[in-house]
Amino acid sequence: MANNSNLGAAKSAKNDEFYTQYADIQKEVNAYLEYNPDTFRDKTVLLPCDDPEWSNFTRFFAQNFERLGLKRLISTSYAVESKKYKDYQPTLFETESPWFDMDKTRIKGKIFELTRDTNQNGRIDIDDLEWHYLEGDGDFRSAEVCKLRDESDIIVTNPPFSLFREFIAWILDAHKQFAVIGNINAITYKEIFPLIKDNKIWTHNPFIRGAGYFTAPYEIDTSLSYFNSHDYREGLIRVPGVRWFTNIEFGVRHEPLRLMSMHDNIRYSRHKEIRNTGYTTYDNYNAIEIPFTDSIPEDYSGMMGVPISFLDKYCPEQFRIVGMCENLDLYGLKTRIYSSEECRAAYRNKFGKPGTYDLNASGVVKLEDGSLEKVYQRILIQRV
Ligand SMILES: C[S@@+](CC[C@H](N)C(=O)[O-])C[C@H]1O[C@@H](n2cnc3c(N)ncnc32)[C@H](O)[C@@H]1O
Repeated sequence: MANNSNLGAAKSAKNDEFYTQYADIQKEVNAYLEYNPDTFRDKTVLLPCDDPEWSNFTRFFAQNFERLGLKRLISTSYAVESKKYKDYQPTLFETESPWFDMDKTRIKGKIFELTRDTNQNGRIDIDDLEWHYLEGDGDFRSAEVCKLRDESDIIVTNPPFSLFREFIAWILDAHKQFAVIGNINAITYKEIFPLIKDNKIWTHNPFIRGAGYFTAPYEIDTSLSYFNSHDYREGLIRVPGVRWFTNIEFGVRHEPLRLMSMHDNIRYSRHKEIRNTGYTTYDNYNAIEIPFTDSIPEDYSGMMGVPISFLDKYCPEQFRIVGMCENLDLYGLKTRIYSSEECRAAYRNKFGKPGTYDLNASGVVKLEDGSLEKVYQRILIQRV
């Protein structure tokens, strides 16, 4: 039994320790540059929660320092003794450096900085990076990293997923531009959703079928992780449901979805749930249920409940986000609240045994036999 909690700890340690591929960073940055070639010009870019000796963020931004027109690049790493995953050997880069310190290597974070052509070879690149140990362990919440945040214009990283809410709040408290990787479910967090709704931050999905492939400093033991064990490329972990969260503009998000009318959907939809059947109205929202983003009827002007993956196609000039089907009814959109008796009856009806079915946590549809059924997580939208 001991080992459930040990396994849990090992899993959670590893879940925060995986590294982004160079090509994924490049693809995302290119999307910003296509929209505005000067996105990074004369900017200070901070890469916190990084580990330049393992990860590619520093490598990418250092190698592209001149092309992006950066003013200053700062990258910070987190001390191994503070990490949940502690297996670590200092690299030759560190041990052969004149600044290497045996007493600090495991307990201090590091800062890497690039501003000038230190080796005077005529270009500013990764070989010009200067580094030293931080005073503390490099925790993004520490005063010294907060100070670096305040000095920067744009923050880019793949932060620890377990601290995602805190990390986004940390960026937004300082009103910075950012691009960070997170799990799509984070859009439903009560700290994140209002920002998505108000079009202050948005998501981008350049990942194939929404899954990212990451490298790791440990041997990949698929039995320990939430990573999908049936699909990993050699040496890479597949993490499903990842997205970039950002407030930097890119072009695709201004391209409206091409959709069919309600009539055509009912007649020709490729989804059997819609074809010849039509749309169901929720029992607890004044909205229709849309199980697939491509089934949104282009001529419907009322409220619609769409899957959260709709955000991959969301164009703010085409739709506005009105709210989300959730327990707290943050936006006052519910037309009815179910009693605990109704929740118990719905459970009995669905599963044939006593229990409670939290009907208030989502959109609810009434089936033909009159029973109540919850639908998956939905965002409520309306045509602009
Ligand atoms: C998902 S990994 C990504 C690493 C790197 N940014 C990349 O994508 O290649 C998150 C990193 O944040 C580090 N980390 C965890 N907690 C941290 C904290 N409080 N402050 C700074 N870094 C932290 C982890 O040790 C890990 O190296």
